[in-house]
Formats: sequence, structure tokens, C-alpha cells
Amino acid sequence: MAPQKLLDGLVALVTGGASGFGEGIVRLFAEQGAKVVILDIGEDQAQAIVYELNQSGYTSTFIKTDITKAADWKNATDKTLAKFSKIDILVNNAGWTYRRKDSLEVTEAEYDRIFDINVKGIYNSINAIMPHFLKQGSGSIINISSCVTSKPTTGLLYYNATKGAVDLLTRGLAAEYSSKGIRVNGISPSLGNTALVSEFVGVEFTKEMAERQATEAPIQRMVTPKDIAKGCLFYATPYFNEFQTGGLLRVDGGQYC
Ligand SMILES: NC(=O)c1ccc[n+]([C@@H]2O[C@H](COP(=O)([O-])OP(=O)(O)OC[C@H]3O[C@@H](n4cnc5c(N)ncnc54)[C@H](O)[C@@H]3O)[C@@H](O)[C@H]2O)c1
Repeated sequence: MAPQKLLDGLVALVTGGASGFGEGIVRLFAEQGAKVVILDIGEDQAQAIVYELNQSGYTSTFIKTDITKAADWKNATDKTLAKFSKIDILVNNAGWTYRRKDSLEVTEAEYDRIFDINVKGIYNSINAIMPHFLKQGSGSIINISSCVTSKPTTGLLYYNATKGAVDLLTRGLAAEYSSKGIRVNGISPSLGNTALVSEFVGVEFTKEMAERQATEAPIQRMVTPKDIAKGCLFYATPYFNEFQTGGLLRVDGGQYC
């Protein structure tokens, strides 16, 4: 029989949990019984989510963390272990892109920033959390990639490349650590109407564009934070997944099938 709450008793860290897909993951994981820790640079948004969730009887907390900084990860790991004694799930969701443009116009600062957030953020997370998972003999890591790895979007060359790296990190970490009880999987979303959407399309994203975009997927709507959260829940809950590792799940309403 399915448990009433699919993440009961588990502790989950969600990077970028203050906005967009990450917020959806935080909300669903909290509703499913997890103690959720938001790691983000967006303090006000994160605090508002934590306040609302805790008022509703769920357990969540915020630790201000810039995922590009190893010292911030150490702080987040130490504080989480001090408060909740363990970590079971890590969702590497935080991400960024420069506004879609000709690749020759991408500055070195933008190149450095996109790889720092989208790739080095995961490197830092592994160095901080994996030793704990290894000691514990268990852990579940879920990396948020993108459907751009199925079909590169023009004008997002280096964003595409960071997500290609995310997929290989996911599969490589799974190959290296799954025998030690640590599962590593990835979720690849299609275009969602989050704070990043205008950067992805290169112009201000309008209601008309959203309606047109919805018809791109056979299911006839854009992906939502809840859709992405449900994909993450599938990998995170021991009820559905005690076996799959190295998996890359597209959550795209069939757009890339
Ligand atoms: N929105 C889409 O269409 C789409 C599609 C495919 C993949 N994705 C991926 O989904 C993930 C979430 O993106 P989103 O669309 O929800 O964007 P978003 O901008 O709504 O949320 C991103 C969050 O990450 C946080 N963040 C950024 N840099 C950070 C840093 N250095 N340290 C800590 N937190 C940081 C931001 O503060 C924000 O809260 C990203 O990895 C993105 O690449 C998004």
C-alpha cells in the first residue's frame, strides 16, 4: 500500500528553491512530508515560502547559499546536519542563463557565470554532500537539466553546453557511486513560464507567446513547476524508486518525443 506521504521523515535540500521549478519542488516535497531546506541567494522570496509552509504545518527552512561558493555549501551542510541530523535528498535545481543571443556576443563574464552556476554549483554540492551520503550509505541526488540536450536551442550555445555537462555528471556520478547506495538521476524540463523564460526566448515573454508555446507540446500546454516537482518526486520517493539510477527523465508533455 502506498504510504500517506511519500517523503515522510526524509530531509531534502533544494537549490534555487525560492523561485520557479525549485519553488514547485519545495512545495510538493514539503506536502509529501519531507523536511525541506531551501538553498538560494533570493532571501526575501525564500523566507516568504518558508513562512507560508511552516504556517500550514509543514517543515521547511532557508539557508542563504550561493551555490558557486564552496564555503556556502559547507555552511549549508553543517547547519542542516545540526538542525535535522541527516540529509537524504539533494536537488540541484538552481540555474541561470544569459539572454538568448548570437554566440559571438556572449561575454567572458557571462560564460564564466553560466558554467559557475550550472556546473560548478554541482561540483561544489558533490564535494559538500557526498561524504555525508557515503558515511550514511544512502542518498538521492536529482539534477535539473533541460530538453536543450535533446535538441540544442540556437542562441543558447553555452547554456546548452552546461546542461550537456549536467547530464554527463548525472550519469557519471551514478556509475561511480550507486554501488555505495547513492542514486543519481536527472530531470529535463521543456520551456516553462518561470522568471528565466524571457532569457530563454530572447525577448519579453508575452501571454500570446505562452499560448503559442503551449501548442508546441502534444499535450497542449507548457510545463509547470508542479510537473517538474512530480518528476523529482518519482525519483526521490523510495516508494516508487529504490532501483533507478543514472536516469534522465524528460518532463516535456511529449514535445521532444
Ligand atoms: N524555465 C525553463 O523553461 C527551464 C527549462 C529547462 C530547464 N530549466 C532549468 O530549471 C532550473 C530552474 O530554473 P527556473 O526556470 O525555475 O528559474 P528561476 O529563475 O525561476 O529560478 C532559479 C532560482 O535559482 C536561484 N539561483 C540562481 N543563481 C544562484 C546561485 N548562484 N546560488 C543559489 N541560487 C541561485 C535563483 O535565485 C532562483 O531562485 C534551472 O536549472 C534551469 O536551467 C528551466
